[in-house]
Amino acid sequence: MTTAPSTFRVPLPESLVDFLGKRVVDLPAPELDGGLLREEVSAAYDRVRAESPEAQIVFRRCRDLLNDPDGDGFAVLEVGPLLDHYGLDDGQKAATILLSWLGRPLRAFDKQPLWRPLGTNLDVDPTHTTGPEYNPLHIDIVNASEPPDYSALLCVRPDPLGEGHSLVSQVRRAVDRLSEGERAFLAEVAFHDGAFHDLTGVGREYNPFPVLDGLPAPEGFVRFTARMLPAMDLFDPHTSAARALERELIAEQKTFLLGFGDLIVVNQHLCAHGCSPLGEGQEEVPEERRRLLWQVHLRSAEPGA
Ligand SMILES: [Fe+2]
Repeated sequence: MTTAPSTFRVPLPESLVDFLGKRVVDLPAPELDGGLLREEVSAAYDRVRAESPEAQIVFRRCRDLLNDPDGDGFAVLEVGPLLDHYGLDDGQKAATILLSWLGRPLRAFDKQPLWRPLGTNLDVDPTHTTGPEYNPLHIDIVNASEPPDYSALLCVRPDPLGEGHSLVSQVRRAVDRLSEGERAFLAEVAFHDGAFHDLTGVGREYNPFPVLDGLPAPEGFVRFTARMLPAMDLFDPHTSAARALERELIAEQKTFLLGFGDLIVVNQHLCAHGCSPLGEGQEEVPEERRRLLWQVHLRSAEPGA
């Protein structure tokens, strides 16, 4: 099995796992206000970080991996021990505490819990987020004026058939490899993606949108989703430019499996993500044993990451 290279992995020191376990029961539940973690809860979680030197080391390492504009814009936190020792409920709460140090947890989808379960559903369109097929490179909620700053996925149960590799690719470097002409087409407000409803904390609908908004990484996005490509006119130069960007993203993408307890966090200003198909024969796997991920988004504390 190919896991994420160690350069991008952030193990939790045992002492931090113990410390979080002691504190998690007395800390407030992750209640929301307008989709965002309540301010008092956020402040209480922040005090935990202030009390623990190990927490500060973990926080700084994540922040460096995620926010360095010359880096890859993602990190894989190993939170398996939190789930193992404290169970899925308190383990999830402990993972929320960790993430809250990086940005304010955001429930963008009104009809979902803060941690949105993404199981494997064989009854939906197979290319849907919970379907078993290839989920091409994209940023989440691309058609919003303020997409989430970070997107996180926690692997609760890997694909028992050993597939479903995570894909990540640095979008800014891919854009730099394009021609000036391609970049000019991508800067035009000519791209569409999907529907926009039942969303909170992501601004207004931005559809059509430009792929390139001309803003640097901490504020701007490369609003790309390969899901928009099949519906685009083959003879339109905007399509050729978007396909060229997809080729560059794929050429440099990193591919690895998430194991149990791996929590991948992606800075959406720098990095697109996707997933390769799950193993063939999902029909033979009972639903409760198929892959299960939990998704949560984060809003950066300051405007821009
Ligand atoms: Fe996604």
